[in-house]
Amino acid sequence: MPDILEPESALPPEVDTSRPHTARMYDYFLGGKNHFAADRELADKVLVTTPSARTAARENRAFLGRAVRFLAAEAGIRQFLDIGTGLPTTNSVHQVAQAVIPSARVVYTDNDPLVLAHARALLTSSLEGRTAYIQADLRQPESILASPVAREVLDFSQPVALMLAAILHFLPDSDKPGEVLATLLGALPAGSYLVASHTTAEHDPEQWAPLQRAYESGGIPGQFRDSGEFARLAFSGLELVPPGVVLVSEWRPDTPGPRPTPAEVSVYGGVARKN
Ligand SMILES: C[S@@+](CC[C@H](N)C(=O)[O-])C[C@H]1O[C@@H](n2cnc3c(N)ncnc32)[C@H](O)[C@@H]1O
Repeated sequence: MPDILEPESALPPEVDTSRPHTARMYDYFLGGKNHFAADRELADKVLVTTPSARTAARENRAFLGRAVRFLAAEAGIRQFLDIGTGLPTTNSVHQVAQAVIPSARVVYTDNDPLVLAHARALLTSSLEGRTAYIQADLRQPESILASPVAREVLDFSQPVALMLAAILHFLPDSDKPGEVLATLLGALPAGSYLVASHTTAEHDPEQWAPLQRAYESGGIPGQFRDSGEFARLAFSGLELVPPGVVLVSEWRPDTPGPRPTPAEVSVYGGVARKN
């Protein structure tokens, strides 16, 4: 029996379950329940060549939670724009942020209609805070910034944390990710932050290069980058918060370890301030 929450017949017609999708494959790697046969088929193929994909997904998700906690508890951030939200799972941005600052406001954005179908689970805001969801594509940043929903929930004259966790590697250079970032960051005032994480093949090309090829074979383009390429793309002109761009498992870990090896993690992350 497929391990899914809803029968496929109950899904909105835009959700194409015949082709694999990144959000659902990520959910499968995290041990979630929102995936279909095509997603599992490609994800299982990936796990044969890249058995660390599950560890990488878990470490990335844990980094996301620690970064949001840092921003809310130590950097005084009260507003979050989370692009590439993924399917609802643990450590959603509003859950982590509102546990620290109940009045925190979060706008979620994803281009997968299935995330939209589950967005109500992302909209369980505290009474004092706000959460909202926009169906939009990172490659059209102007449409995100111009969205009446984003404009109503976020005050763009005050600092905002832009969250781009595990999404920039889905934008090959031909999608001009540098210009996308410049547009988004250009709309945020000084004192705003960027959180970003990104898969790399640098520590174990034999294990990670096949993952990129498998995604491409499933119609999901992408580009892995090494730490220097990722740091230049995401954080140029920003002030990195210590410890800088590191493997996500090494970013302010809240337990003493042991931690997975660099080859197993293979996701870089960083948090930086716009001055
Ligand atoms: C690997 S998941 C990451 C989820 C979450 N940010 C995290 O780090 O746990 C990537 C998400 O980005 C979304 N995504 C990929 N390309 C996108 C694009 N061009 N625009 C908007 N969302 C996109 C996918 O639908 C998926 O939900």
